[in-house]
Amino acid sequence: MAEPTDAPVRLVDVHKRFGTLTVLDGVSLDIPRGQTTAIIGPSGTGKSVLLKHIVGLIKPDAGEVSVFGTNMATAPEREVYAVRKRLGMLFQDGALFDSFSTGENIEFPLKQHHPEMSPAQRRARVEEVLAMVELPGLYDRPTPALSGGQRKRVGLARAIVTGPELVLFDEPNSGLDPMTSDAIDALIGHLKETLGITFVVITHDIVGTINVADHIAMLYGGKLVAWGTCAEVTHSEHPIVRRFLGRNLILPAPHDPASARLPSI
Ligand SMILES: Nc1ncnc2c1ncn2[C@@H]1O[C@H](COP(=O)(O)OP(=O)(O)OP(=O)(O)O)[C@@H](O)[C@H]1O
Ligand SMILES: [Mg+2]
Repeated sequence: MAEPTDAPVRLVDVHKRFGTLTVLDGVSLDIPRGQTTAIIGPSGTGKSVLLKHIVGLIKPDAGEVSVFGTNMATAPEREVYAVRKRLGMLFQDGALFDSFSTGENIEFPLKQHHPEMSPAQRRARVEEVLAMVELPGLYDRPTPALSGGQRKRVGLARAIVTGPELVLFDEPNSGLDPMTSDAIDALIGHLKETLGITFVVITHDIVGTINVADHIAMLYGGKLVAWGTCAEVTHSEHPIVRRFLGRNLILPAPHDPASARLPSI
């Protein structure tokens, strides 16, 4: 695990309940800098809730969530805003504004966080990221006219347009055909290599995850049941992890399977 000072995101014993429903029941996790961490787990297990804690949209009942050293629940609004300026987020539902064009959607965080940029500079930056997500020339395309895969790419472009150090993706592959899904994975891998961004990616696509992630964290029953490199987690003998991953996953050999940290549940 990364040194505490080096982890851009640190969760310490995070607890969260909604009414009588316990969603996070003591989750501690350091997200390594400059790497891709995948968060996996069954539906309804709290993956999106965990991500919303990182951006400060949900506050923990107990425990701490810090991003770049700032406690997202207790820091003054100004400090939380300064942290948000350094991160990009792709929400599970895409959250694009249908009344905006494709380009205007991508431009939105630039207007919010970089008022010093001129309209021409913003336009040039949007064109640049549109090319990065392989949608060149789509600035004026009405958002409702985009396909599902294109919407994901636009969401991704919007998440990276400000040049964030940390990017959070909630299911960038969901609802996509395998080829588009692979293309999104390749894009994430490319962005990590070229821009050195720290990624946290929630996904249901296990095979795709293994292709893009450096580390995997698995949530189950409100707890982190597995954490380690892809090889460590995918070779875990933990019954819940095995059941979730399935028996037939063909995997690379682990360097040291014994080193996977698997807290009991
Ligand atoms: N704001 C909220 N108020 C009440 N309950 C909530 C709220 N947000 C999430 N929940 C509940 O918390 C649980 C975890 O939700 P979450 O969206 O994190 O699941 P998930 O792991 O992302 O699932 P999926 O894989 O289906 O996206 C669910 O039972 C959900 O209904
Ligand atoms: Mg979710």
